[in-house]
Amino acid sequence: AGLRSQFALGFMDPPLPPVSTISVPTVPTDLDWTVNQTALNMHRADIEQFVDAERNISLVRSEVRVGQVMHFDYSEQKYVFPISASLYSLIPEESPFQNKHYNACAVVGSGGILSNSYCGNEIDRADFVFRCNFAPIDKYKSHVGSKTNFTTFNPSVLEKYFNNLQTIYDRARFLGELRRLKGAVLWIPAFSFHGSNMVTRTLTDFFLEHERQFNPKLNLAWPGNVMKHFSDFWKTKGLSPKRLSTGMIVYTLATMFCEEVRLYGFWPYSVAPDHTPLSYHYYDKKGTTFTMKWKQAHQLPEEFNLLQQLHKHGVLKLTVTPCS
Ligand code: CDP
Repeated sequence: AGLRSQFALGFMDPPLPPVSTISVPTVPTDLDWTVNQTALNMHRADIEQFVDAERNISLVRSEVRVGQVMHFDYSEQKYVFPISASLYSLIPEESPFQNKHYNACAVVGSGGILSNSYCGNEIDRADFVFRCNFAPIDKYKSHVGSKTNFTTFNPSVLEKYFNNLQTIYDRARFLGELRRLKGAVLWIPAFSFHGSNMVTRTLTDFFLEHERQFNPKLNLAWPGNVMKHFSDFWKTKGLSPKRLSTGMIVYTLATMFCEEVRLYGFWPYSVAPDHTPLSYHYYDKKGTTFTMKWKQAHQLPEEFNLLQQLHKHGVLKLTVTPCS
């Protein structure tokens, strides 16, 4: 109470805001953005030195066999996951991105900056829309759009948002959301952490049990141990976090298949450029405080700085202000 009254009387300066609120970068000016084809081609050639996007996006059946023991990108060597006959049957015969080429793509990160952005229509106008971690869209359509052609699906999503598919309600809800994907690519990094072993089994069983209920068919992609390729590339740009963010990996893939890439929902700061407070994810419950949990593994502001540089060079387009 003593301290508070000192502030009230103006004897002391108020405490400084947390670091993340002071270091908000200046907003890229969208008005004069045009794609710089030369810079984009050079960037793609740089990535190609490390990432074979068509192959790295998924294992294909001819590369693996039933019983093959997989290891994990981020776990000790002792942890393994043998490929079962069920999982094998869900691995595609050929890369879901074989010979694929798209014109304008949107990569939708999950940042709170998308709340009240009214970017939904603009995102849906893209020819191909990439999303992260099965992020919910239903309640947020006007701000995040609804078109989905690709989404990552970390197996832990099953644990976090679908109660490990334990009840009929969880299963029905999950089935509904999968069917709504209508043939979009579901990118499942099952070989990143050993911690996802159990959920991967639950997930493969569920896919097989419901296989006939998907029309069009589920379009699954199971990346092998490819994370190193992405980190090696970004290391050449001065970025070496414990783990790259999902958004950064998706952006790297998108740039290899798309003529033009526009990024939305990438803004790892607790306030918007106009200083209104933000939640970490656009889908976080109202009143949730901005989490700094990402610091355990990611270097999001450093990633954002690089994306901003690429924006300035005309290689990608970042949108961090509301869409008109
Ligand atoms: O799996 P990961 O923790 O990396 O991602 P997420 O929390 O599901 O969010 C998807 C992606 O959106 C992240 O990987 C970031 O690239 C981006 N993001 C951001 O730039 N700013 C935020 N406030 C939240 C997410």
